[in-house]
Amino acid sequence: MDCYAVLGHPIHHSLSPQIHAAFATQTGQVLRYSALDVAPAELTATLARLPADGFRGVNITVPHKESAWAYVAQQGTLTERAAMAGAVNTLAWKTTGLLGDNTDGQGLLNDLQQRHALSLRGQRVLLLGAGGATRGVVLPLLAAAPAALVIANRTAARATELVDLFAPKAVAAGSLLHGCGLAALPQVVNITGAFDIVINATSASLGGEAIALPPGTITTDGFAYDMMYGKTPTPFLIAQQQAGVTRLADGLGMLVEQAAVAFTLWRGVVPATQPVYDALREQLARP
Ligand code: ATR
Repeated sequence: MDCYAVLGHPIHHSLSPQIHAAFATQTGQVLRYSALDVAPAELTATLARLPADGFRGVNITVPHKESAWAYVAQQGTLTERAAMAGAVNTLAWKTTGLLGDNTDGQGLLNDLQQRHALSLRGQRVLLLGAGGATRGVVLPLLAAAPAALVIANRTAARATELVDLFAPKAVAAGSLLHGCGLAALPQVVNITGAFDIVINATSASLGGEAIALPPGTITTDGFAYDMMYGKTPTPFLIAQQQAGVTRLADGLGMLVEQAAVAFTLWRGVVPATQPVYDALREQLARP
């Protein structure tokens, strides 16, 4: 049987085995998907061994996305979106060799465009954070041709570094790309106008912290999105709600959608994501 897995450390909380098992049942694909706890020092040896053990692909999660990227850069081929992200979340051992991809950005776009019925074209989009989560989604976001994509980060220099990296892609997309510190947002909003879509890609919610945005950062009918998710709304979403934003979503949909893009890459069939999303949402809501 074809084997797949998610590799992380720790890994016991991962929902990926459940998501991929649901996709496999739904599409009639015969496969096994497991969760492997791999210590950082074991990653390279594990990746080298897996194809001989019957593995056709793996998902990569924290803390291995960058190390796995370096492995594929040496041993295989990276998709452009993975190459620019500097991180991979999906590996596939194909007859042509090892392929490294990053499906996070497409997963985010599919969630925004399909589940939340947003069009990014011509919109002003604010992306909070400049770490790995941000870097993984910039290229797919630009491909959706927003009027402006502003990356705002606590540490301004990390945002401007990302802007330098992606500047040629922004030119090709016809989008204004700008990087700044969180503290400079009021001045930026004066120039760009309020944002239609604000995406939190920082890890602040993990520490229970909200990011306070200056009043007027989001348009009155704007949309606030947190890549994080949980049983209850994240601190970021609560803060936006308190500030009067009514259209809000967490990152559970992105999780399911990035998995679907990986599943399609491996199996050549597109799973329906909504039933899987609904089941996970209901499961999360249980006490
Ligand atoms: P990830 O791979 O999850 O993006 P990371 O590379 O460590 O993790 O990046 C974390 C991001 O969250 C960074 O943009 C970080 O800001 P700094 O670059 O200034 O460190 C941001 N972040 C974390 N905690 C934050 C907080 N309490 N307020 C604002 N930004 C925060």
